[in-house]
Amino acid sequence: MSEHKDRVVLAYSGGLDTSVAIGWIGEQTGAEVVTVSVDVGQGGEDLEVIRQRALDCGAVEAYIADARDEFANEYCMPALAANGLYMDAYPLVSAISRPTIVRHLVTAARQFGATTVAHGCTGKGNDQVRFEVGITSLAPDLTCLSPVRDLALTRDFAISYANKHNLPIETTHHNPFSIDQNVWGRAIETGYLEDIWNAPTKDVYTYTDDPAYPPLPDEVVITFEAGIPVAIDGRKVTPLEAIQELNRRAGAQGIGRIDIVEDRMVGIKSREIYEAPGAMTLIEAHRELENVTLDREQARFKRRVSDRWSELVYEGQWFSPLKNSLDAFINDTQRYVSGDIRMTLHGGRATVTGRRSDTSLYDFNLATYDEGDSFDQSSARGFIEITGLTTKLAAARDVAFGRGVDVGTTNLS
Ligand code: ARG
Repeated sequence: MSEHKDRVVLAYSGGLDTSVAIGWIGEQTGAEVVTVSVDVGQGGEDLEVIRQRALDCGAVEAYIADARDEFANEYCMPALAANGLYMDAYPLVSAISRPTIVRHLVTAARQFGATTVAHGCTGKGNDQVRFEVGITSLAPDLTCLSPVRDLALTRDFAISYANKHNLPIETTHHNPFSIDQNVWGRAIETGYLEDIWNAPTKDVYTYTDDPAYPPLPDEVVITFEAGIPVAIDGRKVTPLEAIQELNRRAGAQGIGRIDIVEDRMVGIKSREIYEAPGAMTLIEAHRELENVTLDREQARFKRRVSDRWSELVYEGQWFSPLKNSLDAFINDTQRYVSGDIRMTLHGGRATVTGRRSDTSLYDFNLATYDEGDSFDQSSARGFIEITGLTTKLAAARDVAFGRGVDVGTTNLS
């Protein structure tokens, strides 16, 4: 075989835009296209079907990867350990899937001798940043290409291109929403949701049922070992199975629906709907187990680390030095995060009702107001005196300078 043409590896979902991108990249750059499709638990079409479609649309090779366990173990579990929530709300569903896909894009680029990696993101979102920063973090020699952004691949053009070339892809059924989903959750945006006064309608949701009409309450016990869920109701589970089972059970109760206006990286605010029943239930349980097992100062500091971690991950810095350093801190905190959390799942809420841990810092005899109290209350007096001392000194100075707090008068005589 002679020297082959330049090759481009394309992140391929099997949808209209990326199907058209296969031929369009070829026409515009003269390169051969290798597609990469990664299963991160998004459901839908079989990967083999997607692979065949890529070849039918002109790809020279089509790489598929079942990355469900990898995604759960190496991306969802660190997000759980971090209690990763962007803006205190969004469990980073799309943000953690991109680095997983990136890892496979780079593997494929090496395997098939590609110099460029392409993706189907627009020029307005976060995902383009996550792909491109991720790719160059793992492989600084690779070039990135976004056909939608760089090669004017608009939606209308894609439809006419697909029809003209008879591509084996549906062009009539146009979903009004832009959806991204995986086992950690589902993101829904655009369409009438762009008017931020419009309430989401029923058809927006697929992972969750309406919390207003829940089935009977569902009690669940989640067992963690060093921050990782290892059993549900006493049955051993892998991280993937834990997420899947809780997606089902918490989803049936309408848990994990999120509707927020979010600060995107490119500066705009956007309206996002998410549903993440398994993720939100696990985070709730994990946080409570941390309340029981983490030292107070460690816990306080970890909340700050978690905020920063979430921002970094949201902003495409999964493979960055600071994110790695924060992971080292977070991992260290998880050593004693082991035990059981009992929750009632019902009507949109996962409510903790019990905790049990061999590595707990909760000391019944210190906490109790009943018999067996081992807390020495007499030492509280000196503690309060010293803790309040700096404020007391400052207050005395205020009084001396006529600036004491006016506490008013009462009309009681
Ligand atoms: N705004 C969310 C994020 O940045 C969701 C993105 C979803 N992507 C999509 N192509 N619909 O993580």
